[in-house]
Amino acid sequence: MKKVITFIAGALLLAACTPKAQVEPYELISAEAFDTTLNGQAVTLFTMVNKNGMAAQVTNYGARLVSLWVPARDGSFKDVVWGYESIADYLDPGTDVYSGPVVGRYGNRINKGRFTLDGKEYQLTINDGENHLHGGSGGFWSKVWQGRSVINADSSESVVLTYQSPDGEEGYPGNLSITVTYTLTNENQLVIGYEATTDAPTVINPTSHSYFNLHGTTAQSTNSHVLQINAGSFTPTDAGLIPTGEIASVEGTPLDFRQPTPIGERIEADFEPMKLAKGYDHNWVLDKTGSAFSEAAVVYEPATGIVMTVTTDQPGMQFYSGNFMDGKDTGKRGDKHNFRTGVAFETQNFPDAPNHPNFPNPVLRPGETYMQTCIYAFGTK
Ligand code: BGC
Repeated sequence: MKKVITFIAGALLLAACTPKAQVEPYELISAEAFDTTLNGQAVTLFTMVNKNGMAAQVTNYGARLVSLWVPARDGSFKDVVWGYESIADYLDPGTDVYSGPVVGRYGNRINKGRFTLDGKEYQLTINDGENHLHGGSGGFWSKVWQGRSVINADSSESVVLTYQSPDGEEGYPGNLSITVTYTLTNENQLVIGYEATTDAPTVINPTSHSYFNLHGTTAQSTNSHVLQINAGSFTPTDAGLIPTGEIASVEGTPLDFRQPTPIGERIEADFEPMKLAKGYDHNWVLDKTGSAFSEAAVVYEPATGIVMTVTTDQPGMQFYSGNFMDGKDTGKRGDKHNFRTGVAFETQNFPDAPNHPNFPNPVLRPGETYMQTCIYAFGTK
């Protein structure tokens, strides 16, 4: 089913600009592999390529990033996100549903799926032990969005995806209208913009859930990535990974990434919050005031030279080190999704914020517009 498209134009362009660089053409997933209809709605795969040859592929099934080809130090391109080669693979029950989609309405966990808003209690679906995770078993990641391609005035490309989430879906109140825009800039940034409105008060916290591996293959662990997180505190949790409500300092703990540190260096540390999560799976409270736009994290892989910078207007970021990966499923190019071979950097409000008045407000009301921007920017060193 997979038809291979060799991306030659970008390679030729690069070859012309840097005659000595080693240029490897790369293989994009064919749109035909996603050409199907689900619940009467057409599924599509969109491809964006920038003037440097960087490419992003996005499907409207789950508003999901499928491939992200970025330049490495040696001039070759690496696909730095997990994904699968066809829509059939994404629908296979054995595959990881959180591979690349937008999750929501509320990303991460809500305690027992319950919260009270304006005096009324709501019960969401339960899909993670006794809790609600990533919007539930029928969250945004499982929906077919309306999608279209856009060429911007500066010649960059975008994919605009919209979804109407009906009142009561997964237990959430209000008809919610959400638009997610992926833009691939000519500065090698993948910009993900979110906008949402509602006709009744609701809670919202959508985020992008890509697993990155800056080696470009899961044959190598992400433990070698050198990570910096610009956060002086985090939100400790109970054993079900529900925040206790405390905001604790990272000082003197293995969660202190204020200086660049290899992910694997302290991942087995004897530190209670890490034992509960079986590694890193925490919400960092980013150093910022209000909704300022700030650099949340810098990730560097010494072997490929790829540097990824995560910038956000959100107050928090979940860094998940792939502690539940078991190698049972296989992604693009035969990559086994082994233990700790993908890392997620989810810019977000804090998990379970609807149940913690001291956390940033997650409520969206009629007449307001929810907005979020996250940028994954790529370079080499
Ligand atoms: C959560 C993990 C969860 C994972 C699912 C992350 O956002 O923090 O606890 O296992 O998503 O892939």
